Amino acid sequence: MRIAVLSETDPAEPRVSAVPETVKKFKGLGADVVVQSGAGDRAGVPDNEYEAAGASIAGSAADAARDADLVLKVRRPGAEELGLFKRGAVVVAIMDPYGHEDALKAMAEAGVDGFAMELMPRITRAQVMDVLSSQANLAGYRAVVDGAAEYGRSMPMMMTAAGTVPAARVFVMGVGVAGLQAIATARRMGAVVTATDVRPATKEQVESLGAKFVAVEDDEFKQAETAGGYAKEMSDAYKAKQAELVASHIAKQDIVITTALIPGRPAPKLVSEAMVASMKPGSVLVDLAVERGGNVEGAKAGEIVTLAKGVKIVGHVNVAGRLAATASSLYARNLYNFVETMIDKETKALAVKWDDELVKATNLTRDGQVVHASFQPKAA
Ligand code: NAI
Repeated sequence: MRIAVLSETDPAEPRVSAVPETVKKFKGLGADVVVQSGAGDRAGVPDNEYEAAGASIAGSAADAARDADLVLKVRRPGAEELGLFKRGAVVVAIMDPYGHEDALKAMAEAGVDGFAMELMPRITRAQVMDVLSSQANLAGYRAVVDGAAEYGRSMPMMMTAAGTVPAARVFVMGVGVAGLQAIATARRMGAVVTATDVRPATKEQVESLGAKFVAVEDDEFKQAETAGGYAKEMSDAYKAKQAELVASHIAKQDIVITTALIPGRPAPKLVSEAMVASMKPGSVLVDLAVERGGNVEGAKAGEIVTLAKGVKIVGHVNVAGRLAATASSLYARNLYNFVETMIDKETKALAVKWDDELVKATNLTRDGQVVHASFQPKAA
């Protein structure tokens, strides 16, 4: 069995889908691993480290992908890459399938069996394969580091001979995986941290990290979590009450980190232009939801917007990719843990268990068709 590790074609993607540790493990399962030369360069893994782990190096994507039974990537393969794969090849990546039905169709037509890691169910067995969590955790950490770097004052309180410096006030909006890590990171840096979310379960989590919970806790709030553990879209009345509370709170903050998302919908707008305008000069907002439309009015994807008053809105994209080495090693392990279930330990051949619930949940295309229920072509 041959596994190919390709370079990412998107210049905005520095991560890589395998690291020497996972190459060794694949070799241990009896697979041949071929890495495209330079694939790990931007994640701090030079070709020779892959070679030392037992991989062979191919000079081009075409050479790496030729005859590969399994292709590992970070992002969905583009049209030019699809032409390199043999029919029936399994491709595993973060496929970003929503709203990209045409790309899924192209993948099906290329005869590729595509799997989307981000559709992995959040059940206990699959926690080791959960790329949303492994990457969001790093994004939450990095958001605080980026916020602190843009902030012209200190995070911790300092008592010095020249006088006392106050601790920064950090407000985290949205307390999922990224938000929890943002709270923990800001606390470690010595900030005074508050946080908000619409899911009541987060209150205790926020408090257990030593931060203060700020939210309108009415009856609607008590019902705001879906069975799957995600947020619901809130009513206009709730949003208005919450906005009023948040408005008075934000005016006193130095750094605001927003991470709020609702599955399958645009990110909720939580910070209005007026709220941004109420902040002190030098304050910083970091919008982790910017790629899904943004939580902060005025945030721009891929930009740091500096407003007249000196307030900055940080809108980096692919924030986990800003820690490319760590993000790659965690992503590579998530991939390995999933792909391992597709390899027959006796015959050492690819043997996808098509009736496994993890396979069913993540499989987008098979035998020339888009097979995932969520991405069927709409009936005319
Ligand atoms: P997410 O990325 O979908 O959303 C981030 C946060 O934004 C969520 O906490 C959500 O409640 C919040 N939010 C949405 N609308 C908001 C609003 N209007 N105001 C304030 N906050 C708002 O969430 P993520 O990080 O994917 O986590 C979702 C759930 O999945 C959590 O319950 C988490 O504990 C759970 N989870 C379970 C795992 C497992 O069982 N294997 C692994 C990881 C997460």
